[in-house]
Amino acid sequence: MKYVKFGSTGLTVSQFCLGAWHLPGTGVKDRFGVEEVDKETFAKVVGKAYDLGINFIDGANRYHGRMSTADLDHVGNSEKLLGQVLKGYPRESLVVATKVRGPMAPFPNGQGLSRKHIMWQIGESLRRLELDYVDLYQIHWEDELTPKIETLRALNNLVDRGLVRYIGESNHNPAGVVEFMELAQRYGMEGFASMQEPYNLLERQKESETLPVAKKYGMAVMAYVPIAQGVLSGKYLGGTEKGSRATYIAQMASQYFTPEVNAAVSSLVAIAGEKGCTLPQLALAWMLHKQEQLGITIVPILGITKISHLEDNVGALDVKLSGDEMKRLEEMAATAKMGPASY
Ligand SMILES: NC(=O)c1ccc[n+]([C@@H]2O[C@H](COP(=O)([O-])OP(=O)(O)OC[C@H]3O[C@@H](n4cnc5c(N)ncnc54)[C@H](OP(=O)(O)O)[C@@H]3O)[C@@H](O)[C@H]2O)c1
Repeated sequence: MKYVKFGSTGLTVSQFCLGAWHLPGTGVKDRFGVEEVDKETFAKVVGKAYDLGINFIDGANRYHGRMSTADLDHVGNSEKLLGQVLKGYPRESLVVATKVRGPMAPFPNGQGLSRKHIMWQIGESLRRLELDYVDLYQIHWEDELTPKIETLRALNNLVDRGLVRYIGESNHNPAGVVEFMELAQRYGMEGFASMQEPYNLLERQKESETLPVAKKYGMAVMAYVPIAQGVLSGKYLGGTEKGSRATYIAQMASQYFTPEVNAAVSSLVAIAGEKGCTLPQLALAWMLHKQEQLGITIVPILGITKISHLEDNVGALDVKLSGDEMKRLEEMAATAKMGPASY
C-alpha cells in the first residue's frame, strides 16, 4: 500500500479508502423487503482491506449497506455492522470517517446541520460504531436553512471535546466551501481537512470549479464512485450481472447505460488490454496520476462487495501511465458525454 498525507493535515491515510455505502448482500430480504447485508463476507472484505494496508474507512450515519436511499427503518445499519467488525482491530491503526446531515428521524431536527442535530448524531454514530471518537466527521450535503457559522462552531466543539479528530465536507457547492473556509480562518477555527465528491474518468464535472477549491485550501479530495459504480469495470457491456448493483439501483440504467457510455467503455477496455491491466485498475491508476497533475491529494473510496474486486482494484498502484496515455484515456472517456448525476 501507498500512504499519503491527508491534504495539509498531519494525518496519514492509505491511498485507497474502503467505502461502507454498498456492502455484500445475502439475497435474503428482511421484513420490509430489503436485502440484508452479508455480515460474514463484509467482515472478510474489511479483513482483506486491512491486510492490504488500507487503514481508512468511510461510512455515513444514513447508510444501510444494501438499500440506497435508506429509509428511516434502515438508516444506521452500515455503522452498526462496521462497529461490530472494527472491534477486532487496534483502534489507533484505523482512520474512521462518517457523515451527518441526512434524515435520521421523522421529527423536526431529525436531520440537518444545526448544532442540535450534530450534537445528537455524533453520539448516535459513536454508539453504533462502538467507538470513543471518529477520525473524520463530514457534513454529507448542504443545509441551506442553517447558518454556516453555527455548523462550523458545532463541529469545532466536537474536535475540542475529542469526539472528532478532523472535519470534512461533501457535496457542497464550491462557493459554499469557500465561505466555510473563510469563516474558519477569520475566527481561528478548524476548517475542513477534506471534500468528498463524485469523481471518475467518465465523470469529471468537479474538476473545473470544485477541485480548485480543495487545492486553494489544502483539502484532500475523497473521490466517491471512482469506478462509476462498477461501470468502469466493463462488466455491464455484456448485460446486467446477477446480484450486481444495477439489479437493485434502477437509477444506474438512466445514468450510465447509454450507447455513448457503452462505446467509450468498450474503447477503454481495449486500452486496458493493451496495457496488460484490468479496466478498474486503469481507471483508478488514471485518478492516482491526476493527483500530480492537479496538485491535490485524491483518495478513491472503493465500494467492495467481493474480495476479488478489492484485490483487482488495489493493483492500480502498479499501473504507470505516461502523459500521452493520460490524454488518450481522457479523450476516449469524454465521448461518453456523461452529464451531472445525483447519488
Ligand atoms: N458523499 C457522498 O454523497 C457519497 C455518495 C456515494 C458514495 N460515497 C462513498 O463512496 C464509496 C464508494 O462508492 P461506490 O461504491 O459507488 O464506488 P465504486 O468503486 O465506483 O463502485 C463500487 C461497485 O463497483 C463494482 N466493482 C468494484 N470493483 C470492481 C471490479 N474490480 N470489477 C467489477 N466490479 C467492481 C461493485 O459492484 P457490484 O456490487 O455490482 O459487484 C462495487 O459495489 C461509498 O462506499 C461511500 O463511502 C459517498
